[in-house]
Amino acid sequence: MIDTAAHAAPFAPEHDSGAGYISSLPGEDALPGFPRRLCLLGSTGSIGKNALRVAEGRPERFTVAALAGATNLALLAEQAARFRPARLCVLTPSGVDALAGMLPAGYAPDIVHGPEGYASLAADADSDVVLSAIVGAAGLMPTLAAARAGKLVALANKESLVLAGDLIRQACRESGAVILPVDSEHNALFQALGGPGLRELPHVATLVLTASGGPFRDKPAAFLQTVTREQALNHPNWSMGPKISVDSATLMNKGLEVIEACRLFGLPPERVEVVVHPQSIVHSLARYHDGSLLAHLGPPDMRVAIAYCLGYPRRTPLDLPAVDLVALGSLTFEAPRHDDFPCLSLARHSLSLGAWGPVALNAANETAVELFLAGRIAFLDIPRLVDFALTTQAGVYADDLDAILEIDRTTRRRVRERAEGGAPRG
Ligand SMILES: NC(=O)c1ccc[n+]([C@@H]2O[C@H](COP(=O)([O-])OP(=O)(O)OC[C@H]3O[C@@H](n4cnc5c(N)ncnc54)[C@H](OP(=O)(O)O)[C@@H]3O)[C@@H](O)[C@H]2O)c1
Repeated sequence: MIDTAAHAAPFAPEHDSGAGYISSLPGEDALPGFPRRLCLLGSTGSIGKNALRVAEGRPERFTVAALAGATNLALLAEQAARFRPARLCVLTPSGVDALAGMLPAGYAPDIVHGPEGYASLAADADSDVVLSAIVGAAGLMPTLAAARAGKLVALANKESLVLAGDLIRQACRESGAVILPVDSEHNALFQALGGPGLRELPHVATLVLTASGGPFRDKPAAFLQTVTREQALNHPNWSMGPKISVDSATLMNKGLEVIEACRLFGLPPERVEVVVHPQSIVHSLARYHDGSLLAHLGPPDMRVAIAYCLGYPRRTPLDLPAVDLVALGSLTFEAPRHDDFPCLSLARHSLSLGAWGPVALNAANETAVELFLAGRIAFLDIPRLVDFALTTQAGVYADDLDAILEIDRTTRRRVRERAEGGAPRG
């Protein structure tokens, strides 16, 4: 048995109800031509830096129209000086002047700031592809702006789909925007299912997401009580930003990815399995009704998925070492340890609560991870606080943006108060 939650209710094909990919997938003729003008949101982060490496290696395919970071102004200035985009965005008004002062003489891009600034870059007519790679719920509004503007959206910010998958789906329907998943598992499924039109989706029994298991996969339960920040950030296979590294250690990342897969492919959670695969070579699999499993394999390097999305539907050659199957010898699979890593089950549970559940789950998790990284709570307090948020809050309406943002705010406040020992209000 792989993931008990997924196998509890086996899918019967005759009960299929409206599976469908989140956006249309037009042929190459209807997509932006090359060279494509890129808007990279979160360019100073792990995904953003990898996207720039892809772009830099292929100037005939990609130009950089806009870059957005938040607080790492020195890196943003360095990237801007190298790629010379016409527009930049930072988090704060003071960052605008500070960044302008770091740029080379004779180069004066338009520099904007804050949530409105990110959204304006995402919707700008002077870019073709928007890479949404801001971390956390802060990525939602720019992702929505790009979807509403009809962009080709390379979506790394999984939190957008967790918070507002339906709103993004609706925006794509109205604008013709195209969503391409950068998250390696979803990108793998997108490829295994056949890209254009995802024609195979109705014939798929389940999607199988692989998980590395994180740095504590084989550690005893008692060890988890003593986990430090440095240990949690030390992922065995992937080099990622701090928030997603902690999410990988708690298995919340896989929980968020189950929700992401449901929203992206229009499938119920019973049709999304999780299996631990420590080598991170098989990035995910589609299980068909005839017993076939189609997998996507590749090196554990995010440039593969990023390049696939930026150049879609054309593949972009990358200078990466080939996966040496003989040297690998064997690929192994095992069941997730649900009892020791409860975040995966909490994420599934949140889906059963209605639209507010994943919003509260995400807000509680982001707050708890921030507190853990700041040394204010223990590793095992993360699932405890998420559980608190899901079990002590009355179900509320969460179908429009205002309601989603309100649940996000309320949950963050309640979790912070709980962690600090105060009695949470409301
Ligand atoms: N890293 C991976 O391998 C990977 C794989 C799959 C999916 N993802 C997803 O991709 C997203 C980015 O992950 P990452 O690992 O690249 O994160 P990261 O390295 O922490 O980078 C985060 C980026 O977001 C910016 N940022 C932070 N807070 C912001 C705010 N309030 N408003 C606007 N920008 C803000 C940061 O700017 P500054 O650094 O300038 O402050 C940075 O550019 C996440 O949603 C993650 O789940 C990542």
